[in-house]
Amino acid sequence: MQNQEVYDKVVAEFAAKFGGKSEVVAYAPGRIEVLGNHTDYNEGYVFSAAIDKGTFFAASLADDDKVTLVALDMGETYETTLAEVKKVESGATWANYPLGTFNWLLGGEPTKAGKGFKAVFGGNIPLGAGLSSSAALEMATALALQKLYGTSFDRTELAKIGQKAEHTFAGCPCGLLDQASSMFGKAGALVKSDFRFNTFENVSMGEGVAFMMVKSNAKHALVDGAYASRRQACEDAAKYFSTVLRKSVTHLRDVSMAEWVLYRGGLSETTAKRAVHPIGEDERVLQGAALLEKGDLKAFGALMYDSHESSRNWFENSCEELDAIVDAAKAIPEVYGARLSGGGFGGSCCLLVDPTAADKIAEQISREYKARFGDEPVCSLIKPSDGAGLI
Ligand code: GLA
Repeated sequence: MQNQEVYDKVVAEFAAKFGGKSEVVAYAPGRIEVLGNHTDYNEGYVFSAAIDKGTFFAASLADDDKVTLVALDMGETYETTLAEVKKVESGATWANYPLGTFNWLLGGEPTKAGKGFKAVFGGNIPLGAGLSSSAALEMATALALQKLYGTSFDRTELAKIGQKAEHTFAGCPCGLLDQASSMFGKAGALVKSDFRFNTFENVSMGEGVAFMMVKSNAKHALVDGAYASRRQACEDAAKYFSTVLRKSVTHLRDVSMAEWVLYRGGLSETTAKRAVHPIGEDERVLQGAALLEKGDLKAFGALMYDSHESSRNWFENSCEELDAIVDAAKAIPEVYGARLSGGGFGGSCCLLVDPTAADKIAEQISREYKARFGDEPVCSLIKPSDGAGLI
């Protein structure tokens, strides 16, 4: 479904459900992660992009203390009151994203809002694809409710509010990548993030290349502990390096590959494997930035393949399906690079491709995937697009 169609549906549903026009409509896109995996919570670097699909959130203030959320795509409604805004433990757990965002927008004291709100939201980001549909929902909620309640957070602060909603309401200890990419995306450009200083820079991709997302059918669930255990291993490793290196180490951002090689012996085998992934990814993002400046997209693509190998061998956040997609991509000359995108353990691969060969690439990868797994992956060309905003 195109964005305009989604917008029309959300607005029509709002009118049907609540009567009239909503006071505000906000839009926020999903994201692809291009290079730099699991570096955000290690205060490192990432190349990502906002995509041309997202979530629309239409809302008005309520006359009373009621909060009503209508999830168009699920055909479900969730109702509560300001005093009862809290984590939804079962059933309509989708409500945790907008509710958590609202809660932290109000500083954890939603009753201070005085009035509740009514909202309808809907989107076109495929769920479970690793395209951050949840961050898109949080950022659309944040922008719409900021307008309704007159708060004045900047984009980085709104991104952090969404992240806090993930941590406390949705139960995923994510970094800031998804929310920041949705907020700072720009048409035709990548977002280069530095998560130590929370700086977000748009870098042009140049002509003649595009991204193709290939969605595996492997389950992608970050809330089930695998993500949290990877994050914990990185934090344990950073603590260890802070005791053996003669410098300040607060995060793996502070540790070089050479230092990892020299001192890894003091870590358990598994923790050492986990730690080397973000350390290598930071180096790849910095190399990638220099390559993009020179317009060397083939060499940039090679770094994407290296990134996937690191996921496969060290971080172990890949899976058979994602590996098969990357292996199939490697045999196609019009693909410059491919890697898993986002948390991992399922979801999608991000391919850097020659767009004129898109059909051939999609067909060849689908054929090989189907021969092995029996079903077909979903291949779609992605246009780096503008970030979130009010309509
Ligand atoms: C998920 C998380 C992000 C980031 C990526 C991996 O998308 O939500 O914060 O850690 O995984 O890079």
